[in-house]
Amino acid sequence: MLPQNPFIVRREIAYGEPFCDREREMAIFLESADSDEALCLLSPRRYGKSSLVNQVLGRLAEKGWITLRLDMMTIRSLKGLVESLEQKRLEASSQWTRIKEGASNLASRVSPQMRIDLETGSPTFSLSLSGPRAGEEDAVVAVLERISNLPRSLQRPVCFAIDEFQEVAGLEPKQRLVGIIRSAFQRRSRGFLPIYLGSMRHMLKLMFENENAPFYRSARMLELKELGVQDFAQFMNSQFRETLGRSMPPEVGRATATIFGGHPHALNLTASRLWTSLQLVNQYDPPVVREVWKEIVSTLIHEERAYYQQINRTLSRPALNVLANIARRGVVAEPYSTQFARECQLTPGQIQTALRLLIKEDKVVESEEGYMVLDPLEAICLKTESVSPDVLHAELERSLEHSGE
Ligand SMILES: Nc1ncnc2c1ncn2[C@@H]1O[C@H](COP(=O)(O)OP(=O)(O)OP(=O)(O)O)[C@@H](O)[C@H]1O
Ligand SMILES: [Mg+2]
Repeated sequence: MLPQNPFIVRREIAYGEPFCDREREMAIFLESADSDEALCLLSPRRYGKSSLVNQVLGRLAEKGWITLRLDMMTIRSLKGLVESLEQKRLEASSQWTRIKEGASNLASRVSPQMRIDLETGSPTFSLSLSGPRAGEEDAVVAVLERISNLPRSLQRPVCFAIDEFQEVAGLEPKQRLVGIIRSAFQRRSRGFLPIYLGSMRHMLKLMFENENAPFYRSARMLELKELGVQDFAQFMNSQFRETLGRSMPPEVGRATATIFGGHPHALNLTASRLWTSLQLVNQYDPPVVREVWKEIVSTLIHEERAYYQQINRTLSRPALNVLANIARRGVVAEPYSTQFARECQLTPGQIQTALRLLIKEDKVVESEEGYMVLDPLEAICLKTESVSPDVLHAELERSLEHSGE
C-alpha cells in the first residue's frame, strides 16, 4: 500500500494523527482537568487550537472522561444554541452508555432526571424544553445547568470545549447571554471542566481580563504560540522517515520554521507539499529537495498574501499602510516619531487612529520592544510584497544556509 501524506492540512488534526509538540500546553490542560480549573485557549487563526483540544479530549476520553465540543461558529440564534446544547447533552448520554456497556448495574446508577429507553435499555434525556420556566432564555439556563451538573448525574468527569467562544457575545440577548453562561458554569459540579477557545484575541481578553466583564478571572488564560524551530524540524524529519524511509536535509525543516516564524499552518502545509512533490519525482538528493522547497515556499507566500489581502479588505488605507510599514521594520518602538511618520507618509494623529484600529482587529500587538505584526505569516507576506521572485529565491537560499550551520 502507498504511504499516506502524514501532514494534515486545512482541517483540524484528529486525536492520533501526526501532531507536533505542544507538550507544555498539554500538561497544563491535564493539570487543569485534575483541578477543574476552567481554561481559555487563544491564538491567531490557524495556530492549532482546535487540533490541540482534539488531542486533549482524546487523552481525557482514554482516562474515562466524557468529552463534548461545541462550535459557536455554527450557531446563529438563541434557539440554535439551545438545540445544540441539548444535542451535546444527548451525546454525553450516549458516551456514558458506551462506557458502561456490559455493566450489570446500569439502571441503579441512573439519576432521576434521566429516563431508560425501554427498547434499548439505555438512558436517554428528555428533549422537552418546556417546564416551569418558558422561553428560550430560560431554556438556555436550564440546559446549561444540566450540562454543568452532568458529572454528578453520570458519575463521570466531563470536559466541555466551546470553540470560537467569542461568538456568544454577538448572540441576542447581548451581554446577558455571557452572564448566563458564566453563572451556570460557576455553579458547576465537581469534575466539570469548561474549555473556551477563540481566535479573536482582543475580544477574548476583554471578556476574561476586564474587571467589569462577566468572565473576569473565571478561567486560566493560555495563549497558543508559534511552533519551535527545533520541534518542527524534528517532527518533519521523523514523519518523512516513518512514511517514506527518507531523511530530509536537516536545514530544510529548520528553514521552514524560521521563514514562517513558526506559524503552524504554514509549516505543516510546506511539509505536506514537499512530501507530495518529492514522492512524485521520487528524488531525495539534498539539491533537489532544496530547489523544490524554495518553489513551494515562494508559491505559499504568494497564495497567503492573497488570503490576507482578502481578509483585510475592510481595513482603512492608512491602517494597511501602517501595518505594512511595521512589518517592514519588524518592531516599531516609536510609532509617532517623525521618521516613522515620514515612512508611512501620514501624520502622527493618523498613525494613532490607524494603530488603535490595528490593535482592536488583532493585527498588531504591543510588546516590550514596541509594536509588531501579530501573525508572523502575515508579516512575511507583507515584508516580501515588493520583492522580485529572484530576490526572494536568493533570500530563501540564504535561509537554508543559515539553518544548516
Ligand atoms: N501541533 C501541530 N502540528 C502540526 N501541524 C499543526 C499543529 N497545529 C496546527 N497545525 C496545522 O495548522 C492547521 C490549523 O489547525 P487548527 O484548525 O487546529 O487551528 P485553529 O487555531 O483551530 O484555527 P482556526 O482559528 O482557524 O479555527 C492544521 O490543519 C495543521 O496543518
Ligand atoms: Mg479552530
